[in-house]
Amino acid sequence: MDSAAAIGVFDSGLGGLTVARAIREALPAERLVYLGDTARVPYGTRSAQTVIRYARGCGSLLARHGIKALVVACNTVSAVALDVLRVELDVPIVGVVEPGARAAAAVTRSGRVGVLATAGTVASGAYPRALAAIDPRIEVFARAAPLLVPLCEEGWTSGEVPRLVARRYLEPLVACGIDTLVLGCTHYPLLRDTLERELCAIVGAPVPLVDGSRATAESLARLLSERSLAAPPGGCGSLELFVTDLPDRFTEVAARFLGRPVEGLQVRQVDLG
Ligand code: DGL
Repeated sequence: MDSAAAIGVFDSGLGGLTVARAIREALPAERLVYLGDTARVPYGTRSAQTVIRYARGCGSLLARHGIKALVVACNTVSAVALDVLRVELDVPIVGVVEPGARAAAAVTRSGRVGVLATAGTVASGAYPRALAAIDPRIEVFARAAPLLVPLCEEGWTSGEVPRLVARRYLEPLVACGIDTLVLGCTHYPLLRDTLERELCAIVGAPVPLVDGSRATAESLARLLSERSLAAPPGGCGSLELFVTDLPDRFTEVAARFLGRPVEGLQVRQVDLG
């Protein structure tokens, strides 16, 4: 494996750009090849078997690019398909669930951790499993929040509508006495301010929010350094973008996820067959 090779990153769509952004910030010398499966998004409402099939398509397309590592930026894929990908692909793989769980375990004081995620991630039990492996005393209260993904896609991340939706999802978690909330979906960091404010309003005090993207970038950095695969420092990294449908729409919404305009970034369409 060559340290000059690119790192593959994939998600069901746009949301994984929040992870790509964290990797660009932490590892600016790395070349990233990002694939968003915009033809088949959302994954979070589908069965585990379907998500595994989609994940195989995305993972093997990137593996054919000769990547040195693969980041599964999608929580739903990380929750249900990581083991399959690790067996089938000959490339080191980092998912987002375990790093997010580790970050939450480091923050919680009471050991009562809330998780907001897609229905698929919640049904998989991946966060409770990951947190139990770190500290079996931690209790996890996970809740599916299916309306949050379309709100982010539409850019409705502040104002009355997302506030009321957030409140509806947060109240039952607050009733469980959580002291930490994991944003267990790639899209939710875009709603961070709204979720943080609403949670604070319900509880009457700030509650820490954990977003696994930075922890994922740190896991990737560790993996690259352990395997002597890190790009030489000082190099100028890059981000190449591929989608499976509607590249123009992707360009439009991508700026919100990356936190900067995407001029100069070409979005190309690929067919997963
Ligand atoms: N990327 C998905 C996740 O993090 C959210 C969007 C979807 O449902 O595909 O779970």
